[in-house]
Amino acid sequence: MGLMRLVYASESRLVEANRHLEIDRIVESARRLNAGNDITGFLLATTGAFAQVLEGDDGAVFETYTRIAADHRHGAIRLLAEAPIDRRRFPRWSMGLAERDETTSFIFGLYGVTPEADLPRQEADVLVDLSEELARQRA
Ligand SMILES: Cc1cc2nc3c(=O)[nH]c(=O)nc-3n(C[C@H](O)[C@H](O)[C@H](O)COP(=O)(O)O)c2cc1C
Repeated sequence: MGLMRLVYASESRLVEANRHLEIDRIVESARRLNAGNDITGFLLATTGAFAQVLEGDDGAVFETYTRIAADHRHGAIRLLAEAPIDRRRFPRWSMGLAERDETTSFIFGLYGVTPEADLPRQEADVLVDLSEELARQRA
């Protein structure tokens, strides 16, 4: 048993018309489940993709990722990184959320996330850094 961080990215299978509502519902239930599993992290969403950081006890993180990976709202899910950590980078977030929209697209762009180079094309470290920057703004 030890603390770890896992990062994955996927294609979003959400229908555009319901996307915002669906994402709000996903995060609401993720927060409830994660609070019970002592998991923290951050979810990034664009029109076509997801990326998520999960932190917690390794057993809980793998169990959660297994459930998430079986979720049909994801396509082409890919594990980008998994590693033991000394401390959490999102200790106050049972699950933070940032969507790429008019107000955030500039910051996404600073980290290289554009429609041409969407979340699944990024390195795990970049996704964690971007998430931390967005979490700071929401604090
Ligand atoms: C983009 C996305 C992010 C999710 N994040 C989490 C999460 O952080 N924690 C979690 O327990 N479930 C998360 N889920 C939900 C799981 O995929 C799954 O629906 C939920 O755990 C219920 O699983 P069950 O239907 O097998 O009981 C996420 C789903 C999606 C589509």
